Amino acid sequence: MTRALLLSFSPHGKAAQTFKLARALLSDLVPNAAITERDYGSQALPPLTREYANALTTPGGLSGSATAVSEQLIVELETCDLLILCTPVHNFSVPAALKGWIDHVVRIQRSFTVNPQFEKVGLLNDRRTFVLVSSGNARKGHEPDFLTPYVTAILATVGIRTVDFVYLGAMVRGEEAVARSVEQAHRQLAAAISAGL
Ligand SMILES: Cc1cc2nc3c(=O)[nH]c(=O)nc-3n(C[C@H](O)[C@H](O)[C@H](O)COP(=O)(O)O)c2cc1C
Repeated sequence: MTRALLLSFSPHGKAAQTFKLARALLSDLVPNAAITERDYGSQALPPLTREYANALTTPGGLSGSATAVSEQLIVELETCDLLILCTPVHNFSVPAALKGWIDHVVRIQRSFTVNPQFEKVGLLNDRRTFVLVSSGNARKGHEPDFLTPYVTAILATVGIRTVDFVYLGAMVRGEEAVARSVEQAHRQLAAAISAGL
């Protein structure tokens, strides 16, 4: 049975087009999946605490209470074999909600370690991952894209390398443009899921 983790980082939460698309496709194409849904976009994760920052940056400082939220999020991630991140572009990059999740999940000596060459090495198993990205602009050519390389590098840092990006562009350009983008993304994601998870 596929264990899917479906996360929204949109202020629209589960009403975001990306989230609705992912949920609909999962229920059509992977009907027996066990799906965990989380809305970290409209119900923000707690900010990092001073204790958490100290725990991460002080040798031997990893204490249970300081890392409780981080631990919960990492376990949630470890438990899935299909990860779907649904995110808007905010100011050329990830929204603060996704950055918050990253700062809780990318934790030294838990989800990554550092080798003698000072390179970060992921400690989580790889798993099939889709990143659904919604933007006001069309995808290419109009502005820099810091989101794709950043999310790729961050996921690789914790060991997740089997990542496909699906883009829903021009989402502020009226109903027709939205319908076209959703339809295109639907086809791309359906084809990828049907080809095998
Ligand atoms: C704070 C903010 C910043 C945004 N910055 C960008 C941007 O840099 N590039 C872009 O193409 N769209 C930008 N947008 C538009 C959103 O990416 C777009 O409306 C997207 O479809 C929202 O997806 P959602 O409904 O899943 O949240 C921005 C929207 C907001 C609210």
